[in-house]
Amino acid sequence: RGKVTLPELARMKAAGEPIAMVTAYDYPSACVAEAAGVDIVLVGDSAAMTVLGYDSTVPVSMTEMLVLAAACRRGLRTPLLVGDLPFGSYERSDEQAVENAHRFVKEAGCDAVKLERGGTSVDRARAIVRSGVPVMGHVGLTPQTASQLGGFKAQGRTAASAARIAEDALALQEAGCFAIVFEAIPAAVTELIMPAMEVPVIGIGAGPATDGQVLVFHDLLGVLGGRTPKFVKPYANVREQMVAGVAAYVREVRTRAFPGPEHTYGIDPEELTAVRQ
Ligand code: KIV
Ligand code: NA
Repeated sequence: RGKVTLPELARMKAAGEPIAMVTAYDYPSACVAEAAGVDIVLVGDSAAMTVLGYDSTVPVSMTEMLVLAAACRRGLRTPLLVGDLPFGSYERSDEQAVENAHRFVKEAGCDAVKLERGGTSVDRARAIVRSGVPVMGHVGLTPQTASQLGGFKAQGRTAASAARIAEDALALQEAGCFAIVFEAIPAAVTELIMPAMEVPVIGIGAGPATDGQVLVFHDLLGVLGGRTPKFVKPYANVREQMVAGVAAYVREVRTRAFPGPEHTYGIDPEELTAVRQ
């Protein structure tokens, strides 16, 4: 399969072929996404929590995101690679947004960028698209501004909130976004908005009516353990396997069961005699 392009994603939507998107944050996770046949890889600002240990997405910087995105690039051949503009990297002005979008492309090899919300972000999206970089929108639960939304909870559960989501999605589409993420929205609300969407909609906790789905790598594989949102389906428990593997190693170091002869270098006995002298 060749590299996934924007026309290929549009074709998939038109053909009713679901689009599979996942986040990745480093070389190994990108290699896994490549091997699994993923269509779109997002270097999400969820990296703040999944790989950098912050307690929200707010603190992660452009510098940190660029390091992670460049590592993903080196592990990918096929999927479209999207860099997630972190909080504070695009809100100030169109100039700031365009500059940081270009950094994702030039310094990390991303194919596109993503930003959150409607409102002023619609103008930023339009400016970035005009500057030559494809943009993915993101509506519903937008973690960068979750405190304004009343925390990490589903959006669009009142008529006013649902109308706002539809309005933002349409404005982002009108601004030239090639795709839009719908996060934590009642399935019935997604279904109502979908007929108006001409670009692929990728859902996360938005029900089955979208053109594709996205999950956070560490959530779907169970890398971190602990609580995950309602919309996460755990497809593996990698943390359990990793802890068991490291614990077995620690045990064998302590009992001297490791290293065995098969992990150990030999030397010609004559050479060893010479070494002794
Ligand atoms: O940062 C992220 O992981 C995201 C996806 C969940 C859409 O924005
Ligand atoms: Na994000």
